[in-house]
Order: sequence, then C-alpha cells, then structure tokens
Amino acid sequence: MMVSRRAARGLAGVARVPGDKSISHRALMLGALALGESRISGLLEGEDVLRTAAAMRALGALVAREEDGVWRVAGRGIGGLVEPDDVLDMGNSGTAARLLAGMLASHPVFAVMTGDASLRRRPMRRVITPLALCGARFAAREGGLMPLAIEGTGEALPITYRVPVASAQVKSAILLAGLNARGMTVVEEPEATRDHSENMLRHFGASVAVAESGRGRVIELQGQPELRAADIVVPGDPSSAAFPLVAALLVPGSSIRITGVGLNPLRTGLFATLDEMGAGIRIENRRISGGEPVGDLVVAHAPLTGVDVPPERAPSMIDEYPILAVAAAVARGTTRLRGLAELRVKESDRLAATAALLAANGVKAEIAGDDLIIEGAAGPAPGGGVVATGMDHRIAMSALVLGMAAREPVTIDDAGFIDTSFPGFAALMNAIGAALAVA
Ligand code: S3P
Repeated sequence: MMVSRRAARGLAGVARVPGDKSISHRALMLGALALGESRISGLLEGEDVLRTAAAMRALGALVAREEDGVWRVAGRGIGGLVEPDDVLDMGNSGTAARLLAGMLASHPVFAVMTGDASLRRRPMRRVITPLALCGARFAAREGGLMPLAIEGTGEALPITYRVPVASAQVKSAILLAGLNARGMTVVEEPEATRDHSENMLRHFGASVAVAESGRGRVIELQGQPELRAADIVVPGDPSSAAFPLVAALLVPGSSIRITGVGLNPLRTGLFATLDEMGAGIRIENRRISGGEPVGDLVVAHAPLTGVDVPPERAPSMIDEYPILAVAAAVARGTTRLRGLAELRVKESDRLAATAALLAANGVKAEIAGDDLIIEGAAGPAPGGGVVATGMDHRIAMSALVLGMAAREPVTIDDAGFIDTSFPGFAALMNAIGAALAVA
C-alpha cells in the first residue's frame, strides 16, 4: 500500500525521468539481432525491460550492464538467435511479449512465452494472426491467451498486412519477423502509431520506407538486411514525464523542469491536450538525440479547463489517459475522452480502472460506449479513496498524483508494479515536494 497526501506547498526543482520504455525494449532486441556490439545509454532499468534483457540472453545474445550504467549487447545477426532452453517469462510487459513473438516467428526455434496474471489476460491473437501468415505456428490458450508456444520458421514469408487496430506493438512484431523474410514486408496502419521501430531499424542499417496513402501509413521493410551494431541514447520517457508534469499543473505554487524528455510527435498527444486545457507547457533545449527529438519540459501550476479529445488522437497518447483523467478531475468543466476501446486491453481494463479510480475519490466519471466523461471539480478533488491498481503501474501512479491535489489522502493497494516502467517514482516525486509514503 502507498498513500499520497496533499502536497504542503508547490512542487519545485528539476526532475529527470527514466529512459523510454518503448525505445529501451527495441534497443535490446535490435542489438541482439545485429552483428557486433551495441552500446545503450539511458536504458530504462524497469522490470519490463529487464525481462526483455533476460529473453535476449536466453536467445544467445550477450547482454551486460557496465558500471557506468551503459548496457552492451553483443548480437547474433539476423537468423542467428538460438532456441531458448526454458520458458520465457515476460512478466507484465505486453510490448516485450508481442515484439518477441515477431522475432521468434522468423527463426527456426521452438519457444514458449508466459507472463504474469495481467499479461496472461491480454490478447495475443493480434500478433498470432499476421505472424502465422509468415509461416510460424502457434498454440495458445483459449482466446489466444498466453502461455503461448511458438514454432518459428527459418523460411519466413514476407507479408503485406493491414493492421486492424492502431497498435505499434503489432506493427513492430511484423517488422521484426520481416527482418528474416526474403523480400519486402509491408505493414499498413490506419492511423500512425509510434515509429520507434522504424527509426531504430534505419539506425541499425535496415532499409525502411514510409509513405502516407489515403488508407493510412504504409511501411515497407526490405528483408534480410545486414543489421550492424549501433549506439543508442535512450531519451526520457514522455509517458513517465506525464506524472510529475500533471502533478505540477495541479498543485498550486508549483514550478518544475523535467529534463531530456523524448518528444517524438507520435508520443506527444498528452502535451498538446494539456495545452488546450490551459497548461502552457514550455519546451526548452530542443535537440535531436539518438535519432529522436528531445527537450526539457518547463511547467508551472495552471488552472485547467475541460476538453473534448477526439478519438484520432488516441495513438499519440494511448498510455496517458489515466493521468489525463486525473487532470480533468481537477479542471473546471466537463472533459470527454473519445474512442478508448484499446484501453480495455492494457495492463488492466484501464477504461474501467480509470473510472473506478475517480469514483473512489469522489469525482464524477462515466463510461459511455468507448468514451470517458469526467466532471471536473474546479479545484482539489475530494479524495479519501483506496484505489485497486489491478497490476497496472499507470493506474497506481495516476492515483498517487490525484492524492497530491485532493482534500483527503489517496491510497493505492499495491505500489509494486510501478517498478515495471518507473523505478524510483516515489523518491523522484518526493524530491520535488510530493508526500508519498508506504502505508
Ligand atoms: C507500445 C505500444 C502501445 C503502448 C505500449 C507500448 C510500444 O501498445 O500502449 O505501452 O512500445 O510499441 P499498443 O501497440 O497495444 O497500442
């Protein structure tokens, strides 16, 4: 249990959030598929990413952390992964599981993947269907659930596939499988999703073409490139920066700077939405680092107003709805978040969990179809609730931020899962003035 009390005074100081989770998984995976030694600095050392590191070792790559915090990955080359001699446990991480399924699909190995109770409830059919078209064979539990057995193929077919849901994980799984297919793999996505895989594949020497068409975005990958080891600098995770950022907006008297945050335009929907609500976020020190745009976020307390967020913005802020809902709870007026069906298949049913988080703390929230409607309190929320986090790190952190701007403390039943994406969260928040304590 952890409890969050209203901050005594405004938050202040400089914060540096851990490395980007999406980029960290991909850096380890492409490092394992490249020839030579890749060096990764700023890797997120959260449990999800450590699962990926362990899986890469089980597939024959050498993965080591140096004393200075730089990670080195000696890869095996495309097609060179070895058969793991035990079940691969991907813990809580959907990204790790789905991207790994793609890598395994085009290697002639047998592997079994499992995960924790949350991951074993999450749909895997969305990757099984396209990867089976490549020639891999799968056996899963009823409903396409893990544990999942994979029989990969050394003669994968390049496929052309239109992804039915906006999902960077599905897109990335197909591209990773396509690396060891002879010919051109084509993925069409109806709405653009985060493009870290495309960027990093290029960085490692693959040829990836991206074009916009009337039907969305088309990504073409030339199979069997020679992936060469590369150095990666992982930016701060904008999805993690979201928590101190919203906390500073909600707590009167706050003014903070969050340094080195990734600003890939396919990740920054939350910042745009908060600005529409009146946040006035300043971005300073804009630069390109490791092929991704990066900058410092400077933010102060600001009164926020409710907004109507269109469904097409969802892919650029898919992980940020719970914390946005917390901002909306303190804002003036009604907020409507539209088109959130995908939230139902995250680490928890995040649509239901977000509504329950708010309701437990006296905030009026209602689910209407795939939308979430929140009545803002125009000031501190009542608070006083105990939130069931449902093995979901982002629900846990969102509830704790609500407690910082609520009249009564907010308690969460389990803070353990925060370490999947944001190790050191409580210490970082307390260093800028929060009052989070183990209860
Ligand atoms: C991710 C994609 C998103 C996101 C997840 C990370 C990725 O999932 O929610 O946290 O790294 O590709 P979907 O692909 O299921 O939308």
